[in-house]
Amino acid sequence: MAARKKPKTNKKPTLVGERKLGRVLITGASAGIGAELAREFAKHGHALVLVARSKDKLTALAGELNAAHDTEALVIVEDLSRKGCAQAIVDELADRGIEIDILVNNAGVLDVGPFADTDTDVYDNMVALNVAVLTSLTSLLLPAMVARKFGRILNVASLAAFQPIPSMAVYAATKAYVLSLTESLSEELRGTGVKVTALCPGLTDTGMVGTIKAKSATAQATPNILISDPKAVAKQAYAATMSGQTILVPGLPNQIAAAWAQVTPRWLTRTVTGFASRQADWMKRG
Ligand SMILES: NC(=O)c1ccc[n+]([C@@H]2O[C@H](COP(=O)([O-])OP(=O)(O)OC[C@H]3O[C@@H](n4cnc5c(N)ncnc54)[C@H](OP(=O)(O)O)[C@@H]3O)[C@@H](O)[C@H]2O)c1
Repeated sequence: MAARKKPKTNKKPTLVGERKLGRVLITGASAGIGAELAREFAKHGHALVLVARSKDKLTALAGELNAAHDTEALVIVEDLSRKGCAQAIVDELADRGIEIDILVNNAGVLDVGPFADTDTDVYDNMVALNVAVLTSLTSLLLPAMVARKFGRILNVASLAAFQPIPSMAVYAATKAYVLSLTESLSEELRGTGVKVTALCPGLTDTGMVGTIKAKSATAQATPNILISDPKAVAKQAYAATMSGQTILVPGLPNQIAAAWAQVTPRWLTRTVTGFASRQADWMKRG
């Protein structure tokens, strides 16, 4: 099998004043948390590459950021569930002479319901997006960051990473993968100048939650206090990424939930999440 091409460079990231700024690539930048992360990075003066499928939304966001900030936002339109898409993105970056100092693996999808009743395609797409492309982009872009002795990777996991969640079994498993990978890499990369952060938000007010709310009374009954503002999540994620914090759980209720899952025996955690899941209307068959 042919070896994958990885970009090699010794160029240092741009130095602005005392702070290192780098170009950021954000997947799933056309909406939700990804779009707010783009706004946050642009506000701090980073140049950006915005990736998703929706060309119109990406172009509008790039225009907004270029007009509002002293930055340069470029767009790559790509279906990130497509096999080989990570290599295609890296090839396009190399052709355009663009180096990435900060990778934000944000694109992700969620589905709820009984595993046995869900189409295989839904899970193939979820694994491709939440796990496979995140891993490939990290593998392709990390070596150049290590060579330059500077880099940041922000992996968007979820509060779901801390425990199994029956009725969101594959989603929770993909996010556990993201958290585990991030923690391993953060130790492997000690002393290299590259830091890796896992962002683990709880429910956040984006299209992802909106879609489930539209068809579920259970989701509609969620108290507002448990739903985070994506702008606030992005602001905290930016600070955690740049400071090299390994895990960020934004919001006190989410921090309590994550802490609970880590001190509770696994049988008890899954019994509680199993009981809660069985009350949800998306688990009622027929
Ligand atoms: N919202 C929450 O409550 C919550 C909680 C915890 C973690 N998260 C995580 O946060 C991340 C962002 O979620 P969000 O809530 O911001 O979701 P969202 O509002 O639904 O946005 C998802 C983004 O992913 C992109 N995307 C989806 N499928 C794609 C594909 N095949 N190829 C390329 N891009 C694709 C979408 O762009 P296009 O449609 O234009 O392609 C969009 O930009 C996800 O990893 C999610 O798991 C969300």
